Amino acid sequence: MNLKEMVGYKAAEFVKDGMTVGLGTGSTAYYMVEAIGKRVKEDGLQIVGVTTSFKTADHARALGIPLKDIDEVEKIDLTIDGADEISSQYQGIKGGGAAHLFEKIVANLSDKNIWIVDESKLVDELGAFPLPIEVVHFGSGQLFKLFEKKGYKPTWRNDKEGKQLVTDSGNLIIDLNMGLIEEPLKLAKWLDSLTGVVEHGLFLNCVNTVIVGTSEGPVVEE
Ligand code: 5RP
Repeated sequence: MNLKEMVGYKAAEFVKDGMTVGLGTGSTAYYMVEAIGKRVKEDGLQIVGVTTSFKTADHARALGIPLKDIDEVEKIDLTIDGADEISSQYQGIKGGGAAHLFEKIVANLSDKNIWIVDESKLVDELGAFPLPIEVVHFGSGQLFKLFEKKGYKPTWRNDKEGKQLVTDSGNLIIDLNMGLIEEPLKLAKWLDSLTGVVEHGLFLNCVNTVIVGTSEGPVVEE
């Protein structure tokens, strides 16, 4: 079992009958969806899933996990998702899979958020991983220039075929290659204030539990 699989299966143990569960996106969350699907099929686990991307929705549906649209649920009991970086303060960067807009909406509606990562994702401070910014098409070149002026070394996100990536909401992604984010809260506030920015990948003060995959097994940090 690889580290991503290990934490995916461990996190699925937190899912109980009757829960509404937010299902994250990415190669680590993939295993959590697999594990939950297995419990639904083999143990008759009764849950409702709310997905964070079209890709996860297709996966969950194929496994027979009952799904509801986010607007059909009152709240979400638990969301399990991956992360690209987690700092020593438990602040995160997400959006490496371009799903951070839906992921943040689902996380904000959740009573509890669990992040599942292998130990390579743990850092002292955020910023080595490029920070994803989802932007609307109109005026996105102006935002790109603004980020350049600020010294944030922006790059456009492309898909696997080298074409400009379009998110599930039809927007574009600009990645900021900052190296080190000294004041994540201040940066988040500034990004939130920019017209044309739909959502950024800073997830601050939102995680309750982190499950880290190590060679010695999964470590649950609460
Ligand atoms: C998608 C995400 C993912 O959770 C994050 O990119 C981690 O992905 P992976 O588990 O594949 O490393 O935020 O938008």
